[in-house]
Amino acid sequence: MKKKIVAYNRVEQPVLDDLKEKYDVRFFKNVDTKNDPEFLGHLSESEGIIGLGTPIDAELLDNAPNLKIISNVSVGYNNLDLGEMNKRNIMGTNTPGILTDTVADAVFGILAATARRIPELDHFVKNGEWQAEAIGEECYGINIHHKTLGIIGMGRIGKAIAQRGHFGFDMDILYHSRNRKPDAEKTFDAGYRELDALLEESDYVVMITPLTPETEGMIGKREFQKMKSSAIFINGSRGKTVVEQDLIEALENGEIASAGLDVYEQEPVASDNPLLTMKNVVTTPHIGSSTHETELSMSKLAGENLEAGLRGERPPNLVNPEAFNENE
Ligand code: DGY
Repeated sequence: MKKKIVAYNRVEQPVLDDLKEKYDVRFFKNVDTKNDPEFLGHLSESEGIIGLGTPIDAELLDNAPNLKIISNVSVGYNNLDLGEMNKRNIMGTNTPGILTDTVADAVFGILAATARRIPELDHFVKNGEWQAEAIGEECYGINIHHKTLGIIGMGRIGKAIAQRGHFGFDMDILYHSRNRKPDAEKTFDAGYRELDALLEESDYVVMITPLTPETEGMIGKREFQKMKSSAIFINGSRGKTVVEQDLIEALENGEIASAGLDVYEQEPVASDNPLLTMKNVVTTPHIGSSTHETELSMSKLAGENLEAGLRGERPPNLVNPEAFNENE
């Protein structure tokens, strides 16, 4: 009998088709994981889960006594309760590396769109508001090149953003992270700063840390007040690294100039969120890694992680080695 697998939200079709040949796979989209009887029924007999984003907590795990592995189709794994998974010897995996350049491209694109007001001016042209041959200040943006880019979180993606800023736009790079990164300091001439100094000196502040108990709510009222009033704030990490209400107030009070956001406290973002009516805010729907090529690569890697775990092998991208038992 084929082993049972739950797949949800995002697994690219070729990978899903391949898994279906080997396992009894049931795919769920936007499922109510606490109440959907079909989901709970399949989960209770499943040995593996593959997908994007759904919170995996004690209640869900209590319904999954046969589970061996949860394979995230994402680099972030803040949706996994690793403590609960370790207690039950359930492995968790993610998809690092392959999405680095894609996320960095997206973050830089959002930065450029915010600085040069591209979405707003796109509407200006399409709405027929471009009446005079010569545009004036109403269409001006802010330079990117030769400005100071402050990166909070100098992991793989942070470095790829620094590379674009340093080599592509002649920017001065500052960074803040848990540990000093001598390679980034050498390659991008990046200067390490304590958080407050980075906020005070940067023209662009880019948030690209993972969401952990230490980074949750890391940027709030106090931090926005430290930034330049001309600062542009970009969040490509997770919404909860920022106190969203404080961001809204900082924008309303002119404490910072504008923001480019790919992530939100609540996703999908609520339609009455004040950020959505602000001209100086550029929004995208958490598309950091979402290109055809990269989504497929991520699904493939997540499939490999899943299959290794189901075979009792150590998956290549295990995030909780505590749960791996070689002899099982
Ligand atoms: C990731 O891989 O963590 C991206 O944010 C997509 O969820």
